[in-house]
Order: sequence, then C-alpha cells, then structure tokens
Amino acid sequence: MRVLTIIPTYNEIESLPKTVARLRAAVPDADVLVVDDASPDGTGQWADEAAAADERVHVLHRTGKNGLGAAYIAGFEWALERDFEIIVEHDADGSHQPEQLPLLIQAVEDGADLAIGSRWVPGGRVVNWPLSRKLISLGGSFYSRTMLGMPLKDITAGYRAYRRTALEALDFSQIESVGYGFQVDMTFRMHKLGMKIVEVPITFIERELGTSKMSGGIVREAMLNVTKWGLAERASQVRGAVDSLRGRRQR
Ligand code: GDD
Ligand code: MN
Repeated sequence: MRVLTIIPTYNEIESLPKTVARLRAAVPDADVLVVDDASPDGTGQWADEAAAADERVHVLHRTGKNGLGAAYIAGFEWALERDFEIIVEHDADGSHQPEQLPLLIQAVEDGADLAIGSRWVPGGRVVNWPLSRKLISLGGSFYSRTMLGMPLKDITAGYRAYRRTALEALDFSQIESVGYGFQVDMTFRMHKLGMKIVEVPITFIERELGTSKMSGGIVREAMLNVTKWGLAERASQVRGAVDSLRGRRQR
C-alpha cells in the first residue's frame, strides 16, 4: 500500500534532516511530507532543498504557527488529493523511531483503520521523560479513556498510521482542537464511527535537540475539550434512556 509520512515542523532545523534520512532509509517506498509553519530557523528552506534532491520528499508551507491539528489536517487533505493508502503522523524531533514505522504500517495492512504507536501498552517505553511529563501523558490518557469510554492506553500519542478510507470518513471541519488534543479528537471521532483502532508498542525517546512546543495552553485546551465531549456523550445517553422510557409508557 502507498504510504505518506507527514512530519509537522516548527523550528526543527537541528532534528529534521536526521529524521528524514532515517525515514528514507527505514521505509524507502514511503513518501514524506513536511508541513512547516514558516519556521524562522530555516526548517522550511531545508525541506525545499531536500524535496528538490529527492522525488519522495514533499513540502507544504503554511503562513505561521497555527497549531499541530491544523498542520496535520492540511497534510491529510494533501494526501487525500493523491493516491496514498496509508497516512502516517510522525514527529520531527527524533522521539519517534522511523525503524518502528513498519510495525504501524503492518497493523493497517492487517485491517486496522488506525494504528497507534503506544507508550503505555506492554512492550511500549518512554526514554528520558521527567516524571512530570509521564504524569501528564498517563493522566491525559486516563481522563480521556474514562470520560470518553475508549478502551485505549495511549490516546494522546502522536505516532500513528491511518487507513485512507478512515480519513475520508471524517469531516475535518468538525475537528475543534488546535493543539495536541487533536490526537484525542481524531481518536474519539473514529471510535464513535466504530472504526478498528489498535495499539502497537513503541519506544518514545525524548528529543535531544531543539525545544518542545508543549504548553499549559495545549493541556488546558485538551482537558476542556475532553470534558465537553464526555458531558455531551453522557447527556445524549440520558436523553436516549428517557426517550426509550417514554416510548415504553406510551406503548
Ligand atoms: N507545523 C507545526 N505547527 N508543527 C508543530 C506545531 C505547530 O504549531 N507544534 C508542534 N509541531 C511539531 C513539532 O515541530 C514536532 O515535529 C512535533 O510537532 C511534536 O512537537 P513536540 O513539541 O516535540 O511535542 P512533544 O514531544 O512535546 O509531544 C509529543 O507527545 C504529545 C503527547 O503525547 C508529540 O508526539 C505529540 O504529538 C503528542 O500529542
Ligand atoms: Mn517532541
């Protein structure tokens, strides 16, 4: 199946060249799309040069830092305009190991609509994260799992492979998340549509170069959205129960 790996970037000049080289070596048949938000450090320029030298590398330039979710949606739309069958999300900073990508591709080829590279299933690992980051990740997944009723361990994970038809079934204009809550947003929408979601253990290694774009605002947006979706879900369950009770009384 034809694979497109999307790499969103904002100021990743120290990491991106290595990540692209490793991806091209590990999965030579996969195309790479860098979605750069006008990084001031020249990441976009480097990507243009890489694209000129390698026909499997492509670049999408955006006008400014508009969030991870918006960058990925632009990348998904680019993929769906072309004939890619598996679309991958991949960080630029070395946290995701290109050598593990075949595991995610295999899971989609075996029938998954979404294969999540999971840090929190047996065999999954996180290297060099402080306890605070582990707690945010575990807490975020626990809260999402409980509020949204999804039996998944790593719901905010950013290393994923989607089946084309799964992306085609989503209405991207409904995605409300700008930050990393985008990952939960996508997962929940697919879960509600009854799609097959599997978790594949991966090793996540904290970046050595550059800086994380994670912020308090990103965590707050994700928590607020999960709370809102969870409550809406509960309300519709209650409405359903009331309607069926009324129906029974009238019968
Ligand atoms: N184009 C674009 N625009 N790229 C962005 C933006 C943005 O606004 N914000 C972040 N990125 C890119 C970074 O350049 C990097 O390639 C990738 O997104 C991940 O950003 P990091 O800042 O390194 O994320 P992290 O390591 O803190 O977070 C990781 O874990 C999160 C929680 O599980 C990522 O895997 C996230 O996707 C994940 O949600
Ligand atoms: Mn990172």
